Amino acid sequence: MRKRLLAPSVLNADLTDLRKVVELVEDVADVLHLDVMDGVFVPNLTFGPLLVKAFRRVTHLPLDVHLMISRPGSFVPRFIEAGADWISFHLEAVSGEEEARSLIHAIRKAGKRAGMVVNPETPVEGLFTFLPHLDFVLVMTVNPGFGGQAIIPKALEKVGVLKERAAFLGKHLLLEVDGGVNQDNLEEVLAAGTDVVVVGSAIYTAPDPRKVAFEIRRMLDEERTARGVAESGWPPAQP
Ligand code: DX5
Ligand code: ZN
Repeated sequence: MRKRLLAPSVLNADLTDLRKVVELVEDVADVLHLDVMDGVFVPNLTFGPLLVKAFRRVTHLPLDVHLMISRPGSFVPRFIEAGADWISFHLEAVSGEEEARSLIHAIRKAGKRAGMVVNPETPVEGLFTFLPHLDFVLVMTVNPGFGGQAIIPKALEKVGVLKERAAFLGKHLLLEVDGGVNQDNLEEVLAAGTDVVVVGSAIYTAPDPRKVAFEIRRMLDEERTARGVAESGWPPAQP
């Protein structure tokens, strides 16, 4: 399995042709990121289980469904049924610990990966209690609602905090970063300890989306090689 994962976000893609949206990234992506917005939790509306189901029919990529909705509990079963593989919901959207725990349980019981999301302004400590039960955490580096915004670099600090906490717990936790990621800031995003990068408009609004997607894939793989060498201790450091 690849070490650093690429999750193209289709929010700003041309959705008149879903097959094309997939074809542009299928050989370089690891998961496809689908942003579900309800117009209440965020000031924008996108799509629901129907479109997730349509994507399910045109790709073998795992579907990473990011729920920006105010009552995630009511809809999680519908997204599972539609073919979602990774499902994340916002810490800010649940009424309390009990609801969050039961959602995580429902997602994992269905054999799917469960994630929780934090907005840039939300203190990351609120997630600590859930970490032992989660497969991944999605760190927002823009305020959710729209693609094409500039990254908020300060939010990346949360990745390091979560990484440390996960290590302390002896827990394998994937850390995903979402919002404003592009070729220019990718290095910084990876240096923070990110495992999964969401890239939306940098790919889909580029004049040549394949070129950008390949470039990002290359950067992710190079990072992996560099780290692999450093971590394996070979070649030994020169005196
Ligand atoms: C924002 C969404 C993001 C968005 C990313 O609310 O959650 O997934 O699509 O798009 P870019 O990469 O353009 O910021
Ligand atoms: Zn997203």
